[in-house]
Amino acid sequence: MPKILIVDDEAVQREMLAGFLKKQGYETRVASSGKEGLDIYGRFFAPLVITDMKMPEMDGMELLTGLREINPFIQVIMLTAYGTVQTAVETMRRGAFGYLTKPINLDELLVNLKKASEQNRLVVENDYLQRKINDLSDIPEMVGESDQISEIKSLLSRIGPSDVSVLITGPSGTGKGLAAQVIHRLSERRDKRFVSINCASLPDTLLESELFGHEKGAFTGADKKRAGRFELADGGTIFLDEIGDMPLAMQAKLLRVLEDGSFEPLGSEKTTKVDVRIISATNRDIKKLIDDGTFRQDLNYRINTVTVDMPPLKHRGGDILLLAEQFLAKTIEKMNKKIDGISESAAVRLVAYGWPGNVRELQNVIERAAVLTVDDVIGPGDLPGLGPEVGSDRPVRKLSLMEIEKEHIDQILTLEKGNMQKTADILGIHRNTLRQKIKDYQIKSI
Ligand SMILES: Nc1ncnc2c1ncn2[C@@H]1O[C@H](COP(=O)(O)OP(=O)(O)OP(=O)(O)O)[C@@H](O)[C@H]1O
Ligand SMILES: [Mg+2]
Repeated sequence: MPKILIVDDEAVQREMLAGFLKKQGYETRVASSGKEGLDIYGRFFAPLVITDMKMPEMDGMELLTGLREINPFIQVIMLTAYGTVQTAVETMRRGAFGYLTKPINLDELLVNLKKASEQNRLVVENDYLQRKINDLSDIPEMVGESDQISEIKSLLSRIGPSDVSVLITGPSGTGKGLAAQVIHRLSERRDKRFVSINCASLPDTLLESELFGHEKGAFTGADKKRAGRFELADGGTIFLDEIGDMPLAMQAKLLRVLEDGSFEPLGSEKTTKVDVRIISATNRDIKKLIDDGTFRQDLNYRINTVTVDMPPLKHRGGDILLLAEQFLAKTIEKMNKKIDGISESAAVRLVAYGWPGNVRELQNVIERAAVLTVDDVIGPGDLPGLGPEVGSDRPVRKLSLMEIEKEHIDQILTLEKGNMQKTADILGIHRNTLRQKIKDYQIKSI
C-alpha cells in the first residue's frame, strides 16, 4: 500500500483521516501546517498527499507547488469546505489530482486515492520510458542495449553538454574514439571542429609542433609557419588519443594549456590563447603510469574531471549480435553483395568468442566474412579463428600456462555470468580453489 501524507490544521480532521486510512492499510504521516508538511515530506517521500485547502500561512495551493518541486509526480487531493469549490477547480488546473468537499465521504476518498495512486504509477513509468527512449535514441551511432552500454550512453548524454574534461579509458577497440566523438556532438561546441591526435604515434618534437604549431625555421624542415591542432580546435574539442604515451616534457606544456588555454608555438615567443575542450583517451593504467613516474599526477587531475570506462565487449555479450548485424548491414551496403544474415551456428560462435580486440575485432571479422562468403548467409566456416576446429590458422599467441589459465577462468566466469559454482564445475575445480585463483590472478570479471 502506498504512503500518504495528510496535512490539515484541524487536529480532529487529520487524526480521523489518518486512523481511517491506516485501517485500510495505508502508511500515513500527519502534519498540522503546510510548512510542517513540506518538512516531513523531505523524509517521508509519499506519492500521495491529502491536504486541507484553507490553512493559515501556507495554504494547500502553495503546499502543492512546494511538493511538486520535491517530487514532480506527486498526486495531491484537496479538501475544501463547501463554497470554495471554485478555488478547488482552479487548484486542479494547477496540478492537483482532485478535490473533496467536507464533510468527507470516505468511500469517495478511497476511490480517489486508488485513482491517484494509479495516476502516479503511470506518470512515473512514462517518465522512465521517456528517459530510456531519449537515452538510447540520442546516441544512435553507439550500438548496444546491454546495461553496460546503456549506462555509458546515459553518462555520455549527461557529460556531453557540460564543458568538463573527460578521460576515456578501456581496452583497445572498445569504442573510446567513438565515445569522444559522441561527447563532442552532444556539446555546445558541436558546430566547431573536433580535432583528434594520437599522442603515441609521433616522436617528441613532431608531436609538439603538431599540437602547438611552429614558426618558419623552428626546426629543420619547418619551411613554413604552421598552426597546431590546438589552434585548429579553437572553440571546439581536441581529442588526445593515447595520452598515457605522451612524453613528460609535453605533459608539462599540456598542463599549462589546460590551466589557462595558453601556449607558445615552437620557435615563437608569442603566447597564443585558445578555448578548447579536452577529451583524452588511453588503454593504459594511468595510476600505474603515475606510480612509475611516467605520467604527471597534476595532469591526471586536470584531464579527468570525469572518467568514462569503456567495458570490454565480452562483458556486454548481449550486444555482440546487434553489433555484428549492424556491421554486416554496413558492409553489404558498401559491397553491393546479397547476404541474408548470420546463421545460427555462426551466431553461437560469435557470442562464445572472447573478443580480445573488442568491437574493432568484431567489425574486422564481420567485414572479412562478408567479403569471403560464397553463401547467402554468414556461416561458421566464414569465421576462421573463432572456433576450436579451425584453430590451425589461428596465430599462436605466446602465452604462459598461467596466462592461459587466467584468461580461461575469466572467460568461463563471464560466460556463467559470475556464478562461482557453475564456473568451478565447468573448470573441474573446487569453489575455494576458484576463489583463490581469482584472487591470485586479480580477475575482475563481472
Ligand atoms: N558501440 C558501438 N557501436 C558501433 N560501432 C562501434 C561501437 N563501439 C566501437 N565501434 C566501432 O568499432 C571501431 C573501434 O572503435 P574505437 O576506434 O572507438 O575504439 P578505441 O577504444 O578507440 O580503440 P583503440 O584503443 O584501439 O584506439 C570503430 O570503427 C568504432 O566506430
Ligand atoms: Mg581509438
